[in-house]
Amino acid sequence: MKVDVLLGLQWGDEGKGKVVDVLTPKYDIITRFQGGPNAGHSLEFNAIKHVLHTIPSGIFRPKQVNIIGNGVVIDPIIFRKEIDALTPMVDDIKSKLFISKKAHLILPSHRILDAASEKAKGKTKIGSTLKGIGPTYMDKTGRNGLRVGDILSDSFREKYNALTDKHKQLLELYDFDYDLNEYEAGWFEGIESLKQFKIIDSEILINTKMKEGKAILAEGAQGTMLDIDFGSYPYVTSSNTICAGACTGLGVAPTNIGEVFGIFKAYCTRVGSGPFPTELNCTTGEELREKGHEFGATTGRPRRCGWLDLPALRYSIMLNGVSQLIMMKADVLSGFETIKVCTAYKTKDGIQEDFPYDLEDVSEAVYEELPGWSEDLTGVKSYNDLPKSLIHYIEYLEERLEVPITIVSVGPNRDQTIERQAR
Ligand code: GDP
Ligand code: IMO
Ligand code: MG
Repeated sequence: MKVDVLLGLQWGDEGKGKVVDVLTPKYDIITRFQGGPNAGHSLEFNAIKHVLHTIPSGIFRPKQVNIIGNGVVIDPIIFRKEIDALTPMVDDIKSKLFISKKAHLILPSHRILDAASEKAKGKTKIGSTLKGIGPTYMDKTGRNGLRVGDILSDSFREKYNALTDKHKQLLELYDFDYDLNEYEAGWFEGIESLKQFKIIDSEILINTKMKEGKAILAEGAQGTMLDIDFGSYPYVTSSNTICAGACTGLGVAPTNIGEVFGIFKAYCTRVGSGPFPTELNCTTGEELREKGHEFGATTGRPRRCGWLDLPALRYSIMLNGVSQLIMMKADVLSGFETIKVCTAYKTKDGIQEDFPYDLEDVSEAVYEELPGWSEDLTGVKSYNDLPKSLIHYIEYLEERLEVPITIVSVGPNRDQTIERQAR
């Protein structure tokens, strides 16, 4: 079977973790393909509320195998913390979680470089999660990086020292105080923890399982607007978050990609710096933040909130070849008399519906206003029981985006999910 991909269409935090957990029973294998602990994927079921950073969101289901693919970057300190937190909740986690030999390692000095670089940027900082993501991917593409497979080598410590020394020289360029000792002991403990897991050639396993007819779901991190090539550069992350990233991040050929689930919030959020044409710097934005509990799952930072942006969504759908849409957090929009949707951008060259080269060129968002609804949706179980205005909103979006919305989420819990037949 082909590999299905689920990925974010906005600036991350769309609700990927929740939906991957919901869809997991339909799959045999769940796998992450890019990003690292900059991600925070929240799951809620029974009395459990949990945030995953590196580990795929299929881990709570009993039968599925979870794979951290080659495109992911791993911080052993965070990995170990995640494992320690999951061990009481997940039976035999060591038999259910495999790690690619080719995934790159985030070193303590990568984290320090991330912080030093952000501080030096001052007002133009990216708003990084400071997990060392950028410097680690720089070392990967610069061909200096350390990979998970290296931890099995006798010369691992030497390799670690050589790369850390290089970073120390780089850090001399910055006016930045740091203490490597703070992280190093925990980092090497994390390496020992990693060694207890199956460290594999994940591209071989994934392709073998595909041939055997196993169903595989690839779980994206971040979102299309944070993609290194197509996002709002330079205010992006350092990996390809789009569907093509699943091919390189897992070793899956493009012809072996099946469904592409594109996930978006019924409105829009962004955490970190950078342009955001539909941002609401007013009480409506605050209301969205409060009702939607819009605070970062990784950093706790308040998320910037705004209305849905159709030109950006259309661009994301195009880049990813989205075949099904998933709309999250419809419940958060209950109580707004009207709901606005951005249909075009105003720029110095006039009104345009296309996504511009630089999102900073957008001076204003052009909106269409739709009727809102007041009903509480959090207990609704079937599509036909949704308020008429919400059904109208969904159909309006389907028409403009030309892709069916097959899942509507009405709350953070696993059970608060309405699955609809694809049209
Ligand atoms: P991810 O990074 O894409 O996995 O998303 P996050 O977990 O960072 O952020 C999504 C937040 O919204 C989490 O706090 C979820 O528990 C919550 N959430 C997910 N779906 C819904 C929904 O339909 N309604 C509401 N109210 N909250 C949701
Ligand atoms: P999930 O998977 C939202 C943002 C950061 C910053 C920019 C670069 O939970 O959706 P980085 O640490 O990657 O160098 O930060 O990207 N960012 C995210 N925003 N959700 C995420 O992940 C994010 N991962 C990174 O806030 O603006
Ligand atoms: Mg998140």
